[in-house]
Amino acid sequence: MTAKRVFSGVQPTGNLHLGNYLGAIKRFVPLQDTHDCIYCVVDLHAITVWQNPQELLRAIREVTAAYLAAGIDPKRSIVFNQSQVAEHAELAWVFNCVARLGWLNRMTQFKEKAGKDRENASVGLYAYPNLMAADILVYRADAVPVGEDQKQHLELTRDIAQKFNNDFAAEIAAKGYNDGYFPLTEPLIAGPAPRVMSLRDGTKKMSKSDPSDYSRINLTDDADAIAQKVRKAKTDPEPLPSEEEGLKGRPEAENLVTIFSALSGRDKAGILAEFGGGQFSTFKTALADLAVESLAPMAGEMRRLMADPAGIDAVLRDGSNRARVIASKVMADVKDIVGLLR
Ligand code: TYM
Repeated sequence: MTAKRVFSGVQPTGNLHLGNYLGAIKRFVPLQDTHDCIYCVVDLHAITVWQNPQELLRAIREVTAAYLAAGIDPKRSIVFNQSQVAEHAELAWVFNCVARLGWLNRMTQFKEKAGKDRENASVGLYAYPNLMAADILVYRADAVPVGEDQKQHLELTRDIAQKFNNDFAAEIAAKGYNDGYFPLTEPLIAGPAPRVMSLRDGTKKMSKSDPSDYSRINLTDDADAIAQKVRKAKTDPEPLPSEEEGLKGRPEAENLVTIFSALSGRDKAGILAEFGGGQFSTFKTALADLAVESLAPMAGEMRRLMADPAGIDAVLRDGSNRARVIASKVMADVKDIVGLLR
């Protein structure tokens, strides 16, 4: 039996943060032992909002550096940037014709990102989930590790796969596929921290776009910045509880304990048994030390890799060549199925 295929992607839009790391990138690494993995820098998604071109190029290399520094092995896994494999955009067009307006109108992320000025949002931002479905399905991927905020997009991906399989059932069967052409991809939303929250507000997710840099720990922050952000993180006046039950209704406390758990690999019960009842400041000092210890080596490695952009570009070129072999075959099948001459 061949290994199942995993696909995931991260946008190169600057400020990679602890949420990206714990919710996604850190989890990509062990999947390499059990799956064939494809990890993408989704640059075409980034331009759904205007990006400074020089900054975009730098950010593409930085996400790649973060992948490698976290432990993704570009020999074992395919590491590449989306725009080098044209089949993503090509399949996305087919999916623009499969997905329904009503489906996209339900996407909460579009509503959040477009805000009040919807008329002024790019068409790309609106159609973005169709491109995401194409990213995944152009490799017919079985599973996608992501943070919780991507759940709705993965449900849409399954809806698109299902509708494509239904719309072209006869052609797909004639090609010898008995179970539909596209798999109903499984979301892997797991791990201790599928939703890391802002350090300034425990009810909002940690995000790249928060205007306050104190709301997030960036993967490139140095030890001083990390320690200061943890120290200043919002908390409530109560001491930490000794049991998990006591975290209910205390989003900031819960978030910090979750981050501790995800960085240390320890369960929350054990952490609360150790720190419960004590001062928040004691816990925060331990958390700051842990965060520095876990993230500083990665930041150092990212800096080292970024000093050799040609080396990073070579990784992406090699990965793109390998990705294209898979994607072009799927795209050829799709053309046959849909009735496009090739
Ligand atoms: P992006 O670039 O916003 O985020 C990259 C990954 O980080 C996760 N994440 C979080 N996890 C936990 N807590 C948080 N606060 C947090 N913030 C972000 C995201 O869930 C994601 O896994 N649409 C995607 C990129 C994408 C993609 C794909 C992903 C495009 N095509 C195909 C998977 C498969 C996005 O904008 O992620």
